Amino acid sequence: MSIRIMGTGSAIPNKAVTNDELSRFVDTSDDWIKERTGIESRHIATGETVDELAGNAARNALLDAGADPSKIDMIIVATCSAEQALPCIACQVQKYIGAYSAVAFDLNAACAGFLFALNTADVYISKGIYKNALVIGAEVMSNMINWSDRTTCILFGDGAGAVYLERDDRPFKFIQKSNGLKDDVLFCWQRDSMSAFYRGVQTYKYVSMDGKEVFRFATRVVTDTISELLFDEGLSPDDIDMFLLHQANLRIIETISKRLKADISKFPTNVERLGNTSSASIPLLIDEIRKEGRLKEGMKIVMSGFGAGLTYSACLMEV
Ligand code: COA
Repeated sequence: MSIRIMGTGSAIPNKAVTNDELSRFVDTSDDWIKERTGIESRHIATGETVDELAGNAARNALLDAGADPSKIDMIIVATCSAEQALPCIACQVQKYIGAYSAVAFDLNAACAGFLFALNTADVYISKGIYKNALVIGAEVMSNMINWSDRTTCILFGDGAGAVYLERDDRPFKFIQKSNGLKDDVLFCWQRDSMSAFYRGVQTYKYVSMDGKEVFRFATRVVTDTISELLFDEGLSPDDIDMFLLHQANLRIIETISKRLKADISKFPTNVERLGNTSSASIPLLIDEIRKEGRLKEGMKIVMSGFGAGLTYSACLMEV
């Protein structure tokens, strides 16, 4: 037993911010950003919250599938940027969509979060514990960014994507890995301690990143993990119809396509318009290509994501 995507949905904040707009308050330019990242604009929350975006994406996925919220068994939200620590975003989504019989919890694997959540849903469903699940990636990354740091503020965007899954017997295989030894490459210490006994030093509370190291890591592990997954299944990149990669940077995606020797036309992107939306990037992309009619019955797709942790994953699925 495995899973099949029955519906998809998304939600993005209204405000689009262009590179030119950013160059008004940090020392950067449209040319620099486009050349190094492929990003032209991103959507930034001006009041929209992670739970609101997640709830709207979830509602749209259920409408797309024609699914009854009261029959949902499980909701997993992948996020690393929730404004509210408690309760988890998934429980707020449960209330918002009226999925009162679902079990709901959040998962943080940074930008690989959506795939970790999808893999988790597959395990529950394949074991026969649940019949269906809503898996959501939702982020307001703009909350975690130092808007005077040009090395990070140009990269990220906000949004949410959701998939509604049901039990099926199509192949679904995944690999997921973590390397906590590299926890200093990309990190964010977000909250101040409220403890009356706290005597530590409060540190930098924004996303901090070694961009070159992340670039090297991403291009290496995504290529290796996809190759390992395909080798295990006796497949080659030629057998795959579409590669849906985490949308961090167009140059990362182009490098991976070259290393896999897979045509770049098999790698749809939205990073140009949405920036890096962390755990939301892959479900946002799935929703876009499904709505464009590009996801066809029987297609083999590979998804792969990477992020802080470091964490990474690849999965193979039949549409
Ligand atoms: N605008 C203009 N100049 C900038 C800039 C910006 N936004 N950000 C950095 N620079 C400058 C640097 O200060 C440096 O100047 P110097 O040569 O005078 O020191 C120069 O541009 C080159 O910086 P560098 O960091 O070497 O650029 P790069 O080619 O490595 O590109 C990234 C930077 C961040 C675009 C690139 O490393 C990257 O994409 N990494 C992956 C990041 C990522 O995907 N993170 C999320 C993972 S989930």
